[in-house]
Amino acid sequence: MLMLLLSFFLLLERCMNSHLLRRNNTTYQEEKRKEMGRGKIEIKRIENSSNRHVTYSKRRNGILKKAKEISVLCDAHVSVIIFATSGKMHEFSSTPLVDILDQYHKLTGRRLWDAKHEKDNDNKQIELRHLKGEDISSFNCRELMILEDALENGLTRIRDKQNEFFRMMRKKTQNMEQE
Ligand SMILES: *[C@@H]1O[C@H](CO)[C@@H](O)[C@H](O)[C@H]1NC(C)=O
Ligand SMILES: *[C@@H]1O[C@H](CO)[C@@H](O)[C@H](O)[C@H]1NC(C)=O
Ligand SMILES: *[C@@H]1O[C@H](CO)[C@@H](O)[C@H](O)[C@H]1NC(C)=O
Repeated sequence: MLMLLLSFFLLLERCMNSHLLRRNNTTYQEEKRKEMGRGKIEIKRIENSSNRHVTYSKRRNGILKKAKEISVLCDAHVSVIIFATSGKMHEFSSTPLVDILDQYHKLTGRRLWDAKHEKDNDNKQIELRHLKGEDISSFNCRELMILEDALENGLTRIRDKQNEFFRMMRKKTQNMEQE
C-alpha cells in the first residue's frame, strides 16, 4: 500500500514536472514566434536602400503617431523632430515648439542657441587677444606670419584713412587761408 502510494506520488511528481517543462517550453516557443511575427529585426543599419526608406517612413509615422497619442492620452507636452538623411524634416509638437524649448531651458538651465553664440563670442575674444600680441606663446612661425600679415594689412588701411584725413584738413586750411 505504502509502495503504491509512494510510486503514485512519484508518478504524479514526474507528470507535473514534465507538464511544467512542456508548458515552459511552449510559452517560450510562442513568445519566440510572436516576436518573429511582429517583424522584429536586428537593430543595425539596413543596407538595402529601398527597404531602409520603407522602414524609415513606417517607423517615422509610428513615432509621430505615438507622440500624438501620449500627448492626448496623458496631457504630456511632446515635441518630436526627425531628420531623414536626405535632410527632409518631419515634426510633431503638442504645444508650440518655442514653449517646449522654454520649458526645456527652465528645467535644464541650458540655453541651446545662446551656448553657440557664447562660443562664437569666446572665439572672437581670443582672436582679438592674438591680434594684440597676447597669448601667442604657442604660435608657430607660420601662424605668426599670418597674424603679422593681418596686422600689416590692417595698418596699411588705417594709415591710408589717416592720410585721407590729413589731405582733407590741409585742403580746408588752404581754402581758409585763401579766403
Ligand atoms: C522556463 O523558461 C525560462 C526562460 O524562459 C527559464 O529561465 C526557466 O529556467 C525555465 N523553467 C523550467 C522549469 O524549465
Ligand atoms: C523545447 O522544444 C524544442 C523543440 O521543440 C527543443 O529543441 C528544446 O530542447 C525544448 N526545450 C526544453 C527546455 O524542453
Ligand atoms: C532591396 O530589397 C528589395 C525588396 O526586398 C529587392 O526587390 C531589391 O532587389 C533589393 N535591392 C538591392 C540592391 O539589394
